[in-house]
Amino acid sequence: MSEISASQSATQDNTPITVLGLGHIGLPTALGLAELGRQVIGADDDARKVGLIRGGDPTFYEPGLAELLAKHLKSGKFQPVDDVAAAVRAGSIIFICVGTPQKANGQADLGQVEAVAQVVARNLNGYKLLVEKSTVPAITAQWLKRTIVRYNSGKASPGPGSAPVAGTIAFDVASNPEFLREGKALEDFLHPNRIVCGVESEHARDLLVNLYSPLKCPVVITNTSTAELIKHAANAFLSMKISFINMVSDLCEKVGADVSAVARGIGLDNRIGPQFLDAGIGYGGYCFPKDLRAFIHLAEEHGVDFSLLQEVEHINQSRVEMFVGKVRQAIWNLRGKTLGVLGLAFKAGTDDIREAVSLKIIETLREEGSILRLYDPQAIPNTQRVIPASEQISYCTSAYEVAQGAHALLLLTEWEEFRQLDLARLRGAMEVPVLVDGRNLYDPEAVHKAGFEYFSVGRGESKPAGTHTTTGTAVK
Ligand SMILES: NC(=O)c1ccc[n+]([C@@H]2O[C@H](COP(=O)([O-])OP(=O)(O)OC[C@H]3O[C@@H](n4cnc5c(N)ncnc54)[C@H](O)[C@@H]3O)[C@@H](O)[C@H]2O)c1
Repeated sequence: MSEISASQSATQDNTPITVLGLGHIGLPTALGLAELGRQVIGADDDARKVGLIRGGDPTFYEPGLAELLAKHLKSGKFQPVDDVAAAVRAGSIIFICVGTPQKANGQADLGQVEAVAQVVARNLNGYKLLVEKSTVPAITAQWLKRTIVRYNSGKASPGPGSAPVAGTIAFDVASNPEFLREGKALEDFLHPNRIVCGVESEHARDLLVNLYSPLKCPVVITNTSTAELIKHAANAFLSMKISFINMVSDLCEKVGADVSAVARGIGLDNRIGPQFLDAGIGYGGYCFPKDLRAFIHLAEEHGVDFSLLQEVEHINQSRVEMFVGKVRQAIWNLRGKTLGVLGLAFKAGTDDIREAVSLKIIETLREEGSILRLYDPQAIPNTQRVIPASEQISYCTSAYEVAQGAHALLLLTEWEEFRQLDLARLRGAMEVPVLVDGRNLYDPEAVHKAGFEYFSVGRGESKPAGTHTTTGTAVK
């Protein structure tokens, strides 16, 4: 492994870059590369999606994305197409940004990755660097190499820039995992902590270092398997931090301690760090649950006992019941009670509801017979597709509407909009002033002052207004 600065720039290359897959990673990547001054062709086999993108609709919510799309459609630096083969022929560096969902056994499903590799193989009209940006298990790069050689009628030859065997076309495979966060995708793409490049030739390394040269951050150069493993290890470690603090929060509730203060007390230690120490309903989203599963599967496949990660997963899954238990503790019977739900997206800043814990909580409460009034600043259309409105489920246009006649409010996503709510106004609209906060978004004192009975996570016993005491409150 070596580390070099991305600012050690080689000359600016103007050959087009192709991005395959225009989803939550592909579209920000394509537009980020256009912002770095490159000519980018973005291809997706979903023609309807490409049509919308061409018309300026990113197809999902991400702050700043619609504006950047408009900018680079206009500048001509970004060209969305649905002809994947033509996009492959046009590009010299090809980023794979297709999905890697989870199979029933937890293994990563690499069907979409193989499909695009076959298209690359059949359209190899000159040297190409094929770059994995999708999250894939270690040794996928070796399968990509084999796939390209296998499906291109003997013309391809893995190797650096110039063809190693006469009459063949050279190609390289690299791993450049993406670490950006939904809700902060553009910020993270343009200001990364680090860039990881797993390469097998100096030529591939130079191409990637040159590409990222405008970004001032460390570039970690490794072999491809190491780069692939870095991504899974990073997501597994972050999941572990969340499950760890969630167990600490359970213990805090038993002994009357305050998990926010504990998180601050341990997070100020540089060796631990303050991030990913927010106790709550657990992690969800497209990445953490499936990537942790895939990492566990990889370990099992290779005979490595990584049961630590199984426990991380088990703890996370138990958070739904933990939260529903809190709701029961707050309002007793759930059947027939009206519950206002604030937040559907798996996190703030996105309309993504894939593997959102909120949906699992809603499903459990629905089965228990509660009447649910739902609101989210961005994720209602996506949620309506999987949870249609019914006698038990209705969608509202604001948090205040959600509160109308409710026996409790449940806070499930940490949107800034919810932090700013007028608590007294909310309380005034409710049948019973109970707030169950799955994200510890509010200051207990302020909520009590507004007249709520407040239940949060790991911050001591909640009492009606006037009788609440907190322990170990953090000094900011
Ligand atoms: N979402 C995140 O925050 C995030 C972060 C880091 C890494 N990743 C990884 O990036 C990858 C993509 O995730 P995503 O969230 O962007 O998924 P996504 O489902 O939003 O996007 C995938 C896109 O690939 C397209 N596609 C599928 N097969 C194709 C084919 N044969 N040819 C062309 N296009 C094809 C789909 O139509 C879709 O638009 C995954 O491996 C994921 O784990 C995601």
